Amino acid sequence: MNGQQLYRRARQLIPGGTQLFSKRPELYAPDIWPAYYRSAQGCRITDLDGRTFTDMSSHCVGACLLGYACEAVDQAVQKRIAAGSICSLNSPDEVELAERLLEGHPWAGMVRYARTGGEALAMAVRIARAFTGRDAVAFCGYHGWSDWYLAANLGAERLGEHLLAGLSPAGVPGGLEGTAWPFRYGDLAALQKILQQHAPAAIVIEPVRHHLPPDGFLDSVRQLADQAGAVLIVDEVSAGWKFCRGGAHLKFGLQPDLAVFAKAISNGYPMSVVVGRSDVMDAAQTTFLSSTYWTDGIGPAAALATLQQMQQVDLPGHLDAIGRQAMTVWEQLGQTHAVPTRAGGLPPFVQFGFNHPQETTLQTLFTCRMLDHGFLAGPQFYPTLAHTPDHVMRFAEAADAVFAELRRGLEQDDLQDRLQTPVRQTGFQRLT
Ligand SMILES: Cc1ncc(COP(=O)(O)O)c(C=O)c1O
Repeated sequence: MNGQQLYRRARQLIPGGTQLFSKRPELYAPDIWPAYYRSAQGCRITDLDGRTFTDMSSHCVGACLLGYACEAVDQAVQKRIAAGSICSLNSPDEVELAERLLEGHPWAGMVRYARTGGEALAMAVRIARAFTGRDAVAFCGYHGWSDWYLAANLGAERLGEHLLAGLSPAGVPGGLEGTAWPFRYGDLAALQKILQQHAPAAIVIEPVRHHLPPDGFLDSVRQLADQAGAVLIVDEVSAGWKFCRGGAHLKFGLQPDLAVFAKAISNGYPMSVVVGRSDVMDAAQTTFLSSTYWTDGIGPAAALATLQQMQQVDLPGHLDAIGRQAMTVWEQLGQTHAVPTRAGGLPPFVQFGFNHPQETTLQTLFTCRMLDHGFLAGPQFYPTLAHTPDHVMRFAEAADAVFAELRRGLEQDDLQDRLQTPVRQTGFQRLT
């Protein structure tokens, strides 16, 4: 079975075809994007059919900032596996990892572990609810698949601009209606209103994502949280280690009550962490938070090795330089070929867009043709340590030929004919 056949089979066996929404091939180029890989190293991926690509897409949604199959991390994991990955006792790495994380986040005093970002966010919200004795949560952005978060769409669709349009909260208990209140990043008036009307247990924000925080925004959120008696949770699942060593909140001088890390913290091995003020974290003892695989030894071993590697390089500086180079390339391609491009986001989270009514058709055709040139490329590019300026230049050379075709397609108004596949999907839809 080749990759496309296997994915068609997967859609019969697995609702939605994949476990992570962002890995659905339909979001890039239906029937064309390679769904499965055979091996991955650095920023190179060999797909199931034996074709090798340079990954200029979201690079596993930012989970491997040191590159795929980082040798130092893999060695630490192999050592742990050889010594038994789990048993009836606990891994001592849990304690060393706590020490390392607290050294880097001196405002915090305790940690708890889980294995995915969404789990750790759910844990942080539970701790905040236990600490305050309140139910509601104010938030902006995306924070995982849990009931506490999807409850925002009960009664009205409120997650459209935070996650995806059209998300149904089916399966989330109706009794949670009125417990999750989104506000737009930067909109203090909206946050104030939620605090006055709903007295939430927690405010959950990403410290930064697509824009730098507006002047005074993070300080004001801290003050408002204090006045309202709400626990301030920063979600560092995507921002952590991209803007500075540790949580991005350190760079912006924000002192949260809890911070949540996942993805990059263990470079591709399941691991997530809640770090927090000791008095707030103590509330974990008043509720029940416990899971067998939160005790596995691989996650902490991978995280310790990853943190050590990230201490030795200027990762934020590298991501910034590569991201900026890619943004400049995208704008130059647009100018050279008179194709209306838009390079958005911040350098660690580059967004490649087209200011054109047929944006999704242009994106899909771009993705299809870049695959022919040996690149995984889509609407996002998340740089890693494995990406060099040379990778970006080779991406630019390949994209130059593709943009010439996009120009012709626009002039001849035949983009769809050139595509010969449906355009990429952008929102939540049933895919099986
Ligand atoms: C900011 C943020 N929070 C939470 C999550 C959920 O993490 P996970 O996919 O590991 O459950 C993500 C994932 O993309 C994220 O970007």
